[in-house]
Amino acid sequence: MSENALGSISRRELLKNSSRVAVASALAGVAIPSVHASDDSTIRLALVGCGGRGTGAAANAMSSKSGPTRLVAMADVFDDRLQTSYQSIKLRFDKQVDVPEDQKFIGFEAYKQAMDCLRPGDVVILTTPPAFRWVHFTYAIERGLNVFMEKPVAVDAPTGRRMLKLAEEAKKKNLKVGVGLMCRHCVARQELFDRIRADQMGELLMLRAYRLAGPTGSAFVERKPEGMSELLYQIRHFHAFLWLSGGAFSDFLIHNIDECCWMKDAWPVKANGFGGRHYRGDYVDQNFDVYSVEYTYGDGTKLFIDGRCIAGCHQEFASYAHGTKSAAVISFAGHAPSRCRIQNAQTFSRKDIAWRYSKPEPSPYQTEWDDLITAIRQGKDYNEVPRGAEASIVTAMGRMAAHTGQIVTREDMRTLDHEFAPHVDKLALDSASPLVADSDGRYPVPQPGIVTRREYQV
Ligand SMILES: NC(=O)c1ccc[n+]([C@@H]2O[C@H](COP(=O)([O-])OP(=O)(O)OC[C@H]3O[C@@H](n4cnc5c(N)ncnc54)[C@H](O)[C@@H]3O)[C@@H](O)[C@H]2O)c1
Repeated sequence: MSENALGSISRRELLKNSSRVAVASALAGVAIPSVHASDDSTIRLALVGCGGRGTGAAANAMSSKSGPTRLVAMADVFDDRLQTSYQSIKLRFDKQVDVPEDQKFIGFEAYKQAMDCLRPGDVVILTTPPAFRWVHFTYAIERGLNVFMEKPVAVDAPTGRRMLKLAEEAKKKNLKVGVGLMCRHCVARQELFDRIRADQMGELLMLRAYRLAGPTGSAFVERKPEGMSELLYQIRHFHAFLWLSGGAFSDFLIHNIDECCWMKDAWPVKANGFGGRHYRGDYVDQNFDVYSVEYTYGDGTKLFIDGRCIAGCHQEFASYAHGTKSAAVISFAGHAPSRCRIQNAQTFSRKDIAWRYSKPEPSPYQTEWDDLITAIRQGKDYNEVPRGAEASIVTAMGRMAAHTGQIVTREDMRTLDHEFAPHVDKLALDSASPLVADSDGRYPVPQPGIVTRREYQV
């Protein structure tokens, strides 16, 4: 790193931030030149998948206080998505956005072009639907880029295993990789985890979580309009299709499954699942609107996960743990704030609170980025893909149990070979979709007890 870099960090960071922590993190990038390769201290960003979360993740990256970042390239399959995202980011972060027209890329090869605008050590943000994660991660590793990728990182057993292998490749290259299971970066949940490990709840015997809402995201879709590309229609409504997202179960419940497994400090070994389609009307997607999965850990203890997307029913978005001494709230009403607390008993009476996180909770969407950028600047080992892939595989295991009506084990997930979209890396704008509708415009749905070796029959 040049002397200029030190000068630039000194001016931008040391004058701006007087705290010792800020000084340490600003200098850390100088001390370890290999961590990012720009000729100044700026970490350059490329955004691949310019939708809601991608736009938010880019904003979090540029809000990080651990040193300068700049967005230099964007990629999407839809021009309108890219333009809307660009305008929103530019409005907020004008000076940190330098994406000329010839660094805005559209199409299925756009990810390569955007990553080619970066130098080794910069960061690519992967926020497309998860079907494309392994394709984009493979190229990021080849280019020597650090990565932030959204959850789930895989949609089925084969791609989950592929991500575990890719994680090893990234590790060998000393790349830093963050995965958007941001609840792991929530300071309140981190304190709860420490308290559980310090035996304040006894042994955890049961965990349970709920995501009960009305129709959510694009999980419920009607027939494709005439004249629109099947592939692009499905991408636009990716929660509706298992090959793109793992469907409603994977996309919506993975956070609750992951935070419960984190508190238990273990991954389940098997799943028994239930679910069905109730009021379908004109909806033709692949999802059940009710899911209930009983996971079993190696020590025989249980995690119960309930998901429902039906209007007019009880709504809840929360995770709980029950130990031999007491119970705890892991999250109470969504992801943040968590409102973590430990009770004195198994009841959740406000009179019985033994501990609660009482300070304001910083957004975990921001702390996950602060942690990633700090790891890059300080050259710390940082690779969240193994646990992100494990969470994705365990989630797919529960979903498969519900969709097939069979017990599915973690062992099964090592050998199951139904890859929903094996040629997703070869797609072009005019390709057929990996999933085809029938002559009535409907997509194949799971049939528990009838289709039992895979989640749907094509
Ligand atoms: N951590 C969280 O709380 C959280 C919240 C929302 C979404 N997410 C995750 O973020 C991801 C994106 O979700 P979203 O809500 O932003 O969806 P979105 O539809 O708003 O954005 C996805 C974008 O990716 C683009 N895209 C699709 N395929 C592409 C490809 N092959 N190459 C380039 N661009 C492509 C789409 O056109 C779209 O603009 C999903 O994995 C989702 O689960 C995470």
